[in-house]
Amino acid sequence: MKLAPSPSAGQSSAMPTLSGKTLQAKVMHAPIRGAVDIIDRALVAIDADGTIAAVHAEGDDGYGEHEAAAARDGTLVASPPDTVLLPGFIDLHIHAPQFPQLGKALDVPLEVWLQTHTFPLEARYADPVFAAKVYDALVATLLANGTTTAVYFGTIHGEANRILARICLEKGQRALVGKVAMDNPDECPDYYRDPDAGAAIDETRAFIEHVRTLPGNTNGLVRPVITPRFIPSCTDACLDGLGQVAAETGAAVQTHCSESDWEHGYVLDRYGRTDTRALDDFGLMTRHTVLAHGALLTPDDMTLIAARGAGVAHCPLSNVYFSNAVFPLRRALEKGVRVGLGTDISGGPSASMLDSCRSAVSASRLLEEGVNPTVAGDMRGTPDSRIDFREAFHLATAGGADVLDLPVGRIAPGYRFDAILVDPNAAAAPLFIDSGPGGLDTPDDVLQKLVMTATRANIAWTAVDGRIVSGSV
Ligand code: GUN
Ligand code: FE
Repeated sequence: MKLAPSPSAGQSSAMPTLSGKTLQAKVMHAPIRGAVDIIDRALVAIDADGTIAAVHAEGDDGYGEHEAAAARDGTLVASPPDTVLLPGFIDLHIHAPQFPQLGKALDVPLEVWLQTHTFPLEARYADPVFAAKVYDALVATLLANGTTTAVYFGTIHGEANRILARICLEKGQRALVGKVAMDNPDECPDYYRDPDAGAAIDETRAFIEHVRTLPGNTNGLVRPVITPRFIPSCTDACLDGLGQVAAETGAAVQTHCSESDWEHGYVLDRYGRTDTRALDDFGLMTRHTVLAHGALLTPDDMTLIAARGAGVAHCPLSNVYFSNAVFPLRRALEKGVRVGLGTDISGGPSASMLDSCRSAVSASRLLEEGVNPTVAGDMRGTPDSRIDFREAFHLATAGGADVLDLPVGRIAPGYRFDAILVDPNAAAAPLFIDSGPGGLDTPDDVLQKLVMTATRANIAWTAVDGRIVSGSV
């Protein structure tokens, strides 16, 4: 079916849209952690502004009437056989400038990697032409991978950060974008550092104002996020000032927290308390704070994070390289901490949230079983640590949405239509699924196979606010 371009797009180029249409599809989502909700045949009615107005399941009262009415007025869009509609993925932790480094430079610990590989790369974003080239490719890649909401660290550079925000808006990706604040001369090189705390704070304020008033951003598709890189790279004056900016503006906050032995130890040495306690004292632990990693969080930290309503971006693939430990995900969930998943490009060598789901499952199994074969089996692991594909899928969608407090991540009335259509029969990467009558795969098995084995080639299209932002219907 040929879709008309969105007339009210606000962005520079009009895009095809499903707004005002009724999509007929198999729906799978995980609104509640641990369970999946599967509707074999659903009508998803999308209103004119891209919100899901209604979801009717075949067999419900009125399904036939709704189907006939949509067919009659030409708004019915039928999905191809075997395709599955999922909520789009919410990637809670991406370093946009590190995209050129994706898949390399993972052979040294965090503190060495920052100084030898990452800061030199990030410093290049003083050049807006380079920034535009990379950010254009990154946002397109993430949309093709089904990431409908992205939480980005930018760099210290005002112009490059503005370019990233504009590209997200133009391409239609829901995003939080942060100007990285890093002013500590002891930990940041001269060539890549905010001149002082005042400059870091002023530039953060200016960027918040810029994003909030960006032409075409009236619905807040792109939002600013206050971004102290992590405690080691910031002075007390910078952290304190950014805490005040958070209180004044109500903007979201993101930073790295208790990521590795070195980083966790650095903060204990500097303050005699953990990252979580220190961030809280600086006013940076809010309901809209996203803490990356948290591998070394203590039970007390988790209690405080839950009390503040902050969230954790669990980045299991990155943790393999930099964290010296597996994030105790299940302990955090038991304590009521909000958790979503992140890729941590380029600490994690994948731009796909499907890989984050798989890594989260694998990491939890390694934590549960333990990894040292010289230790007796019954002593080797940490009992009750595993999650399964259902929980991983929930964290990558509804869980991330709850961390950000955004009405996305579920295929349900009142939520924005941020979704992907997965095609197991994609010519480039067919999956073996046997779900016909008498077949081997239950609907639950189908979702498991999608989460565990689908690739970018299986994502037929990606929609944000009803608009087709990647692929075609
Ligand atoms: N801590 C401070 N900066 C970074 C970064 O760029 N990546 C990761 N993984 N950890 C960090
Ligand atoms: Fe990171």
